[in-house]
Amino acid sequence: MKKRTSITQWQHEILTLHLPKEGLYVDATMGNGHDTLFLCRLAGEKGHVYAFDIQTAALSNTRALLEKENMLDRVSLILDSHAHMEKHLEPETADAILFNCGYLPGGDHHLATRPETTVQAIHAGLKILKSKGALSLCLYSGGDTGFAEKDAVLRYLKELDPNRYTVIVQEYYNRPNHPPTPVFICKK
Ligand SMILES: C[S@@+](CC[C@H](N)C(=O)[O-])C[C@H]1O[C@@H](n2cnc3c(N)ncnc32)[C@H](O)[C@@H]1O
Repeated sequence: MKKRTSITQWQHEILTLHLPKEGLYVDATMGNGHDTLFLCRLAGEKGHVYAFDIQTAALSNTRALLEKENMLDRVSLILDSHAHMEKHLEPETADAILFNCGYLPGGDHHLATRPETTVQAIHAGLKILKSKGALSLCLYSGGDTGFAEKDAVLRYLKELDPNRYTVIVQEYYNRPNHPPTPVFICKK
């Protein structure tokens, strides 16, 4: 039987279809670096990736992965909250921003993304995004994650001006136990 599509695989497939290659991309939640690696491949030798995390373990895991793949020259690994993205990037410069919310796999669950900072980071990210750029989110809920972050993000997105942003919220319709929610925002 074919394996179920993971949410990150799904995010990557949609972004690959829509993004220009060799662009400027942001990984807002670096973690173990799998999304950063995906974005580095898309960036090629001419593009660049900015990746954020608040944990030094995330930076060292990601650095090791990218070193192995010989892609360290395509990325800036930033030890800072994604809520401070505007300190590191100019407005209207990014082709895509990717959030994979939650906690570092194998790490401390208390250092997960949080409702206030995630909403603040999305707000900042939408300013940094170029026209026609895409912001992709993977939201988790249930278990020790709870529902506060997903609810806060969806509340914020509901109020975005439809003349400036298209917001698509998807659903794993036939999966039990609070499956993750993929969200795509396109800036007009
Ligand atoms: C689900 S993991 C990301 C997985 C990752 N993209 C990968 O490919 O392995 C979520 C990450 O968000 C990080 N995080 C939590 N709060 C953050 C914040 N305010 N700013 C940036 N990263 C944050 C966590 O430390 C954790 O590493």
